[in-house]
Amino acid sequence: MKVDGRHFRSIWLAEDGWSVDAIDQRRLPHEFVIAHLTGASDATEAIRSMLVRGAPLIGATAAYGMALAMREDASDAALDHAYTMLLAARPTAINLKWALDEMVRLLRPLPPSERMAAAYRRAIEIADEDVAINQGIGRNGLTLIEQIASTKPPGEAVNILTHCNAGWLATVDWGTATAPIYMAHDRGIRVHVWVDETRPRNQGASLTAWELGHHGVPHTVIPDNTGGHLMQHRMVDLAIVGTDRVTAGGDVCNKIGTYLKALAAYDNGVPFYVALPSPTIDFSIDDGLREIPIEQRGAEEVATMTGRTADGRIETVRVVPDGSPVANYAFDVTPARLVTGLITERGVLRAERAALASAFPERSAGH
Ligand code: MRU
Repeated sequence: MKVDGRHFRSIWLAEDGWSVDAIDQRRLPHEFVIAHLTGASDATEAIRSMLVRGAPLIGATAAYGMALAMREDASDAALDHAYTMLLAARPTAINLKWALDEMVRLLRPLPPSERMAAAYRRAIEIADEDVAINQGIGRNGLTLIEQIASTKPPGEAVNILTHCNAGWLATVDWGTATAPIYMAHDRGIRVHVWVDETRPRNQGASLTAWELGHHGVPHTVIPDNTGGHLMQHRMVDLAIVGTDRVTAGGDVCNKIGTYLKALAAYDNGVPFYVALPSPTIDFSIDDGLREIPIEQRGAEEVATMTGRTADGRIETVRVVPDGSPVANYAFDVTPARLVTGLITERGVLRAERAALASAFPERSAGH
């Protein structure tokens, strides 16, 4: 998507043809900084520190990380080491394991002399595939927005609520939850997005609002607790969120707070859609509540807030009393029964085992 008129992806091969550039998402919305990754440990640290984040982008970064690893040392031992190191960077998004498994399946049978070139080719392909998948999600989600738009009085916007950032910054380009929104906006459909701020890291307020603003999509940032009130007052036509892992049975793991929005949507009859690329489906597990590891992050993310002062300095301030313990669960699980539909690159599916398996037979086979 465009930043000040120039097209960017969230991650790309640098001009030197071997290192990797990525937008440093820790610095947005106040500073636009490009980070330069030159080794597998840089890629690991970028994922761990959330310089890059969002399930599909974590996967693409890991694929590039494997290519950087093969450039340093293409032995079997180095392959295993890079896999283990990158996999440990974050626990919840299954796209990380998917991308690493893809790379190892391709690289292991090759002689070490061929591994580096093959790894770069596949990493670039994984990034390009992500863009194409998201465009497919966009086209399928667009039909849902068009349907709702056709029921509205002329000139009235379709109000869409989203949580966290499942936008182009969370993927390689387009985003998952945002792809249908961008496509609707580009086709002249009036849309307005309610953007949950998404404490504690504020991916909604910092990243989704920044993205939508740069693309000219009307939006309003709301505190996380506001969605239920808006739904009770018929101010939300549909919710579209992203996900870090969907089970074979359609349970959805996403940023903490997603479950509460799904409950409010269910109680108010608001359609609740989840947009996902197929690498986010984990056909090896059924029960999202018991089987998905939920990342717990540092207390400082909850105890402090970072922002820009009136005179332009970036500062971090403490908002919790010294000594008060805090908890920081980064994700929660929304049971399939609360999900209206899964917007995938192969259509809008019911959140059910049979629908997922028949849309993605090559992925579900063997599970
Ligand atoms: O902790 P984050 O910022 O990596 O969490 C991101 C999300 O929860 C997104 O909704 C999810 O990864 C889908 S991104 C298309």
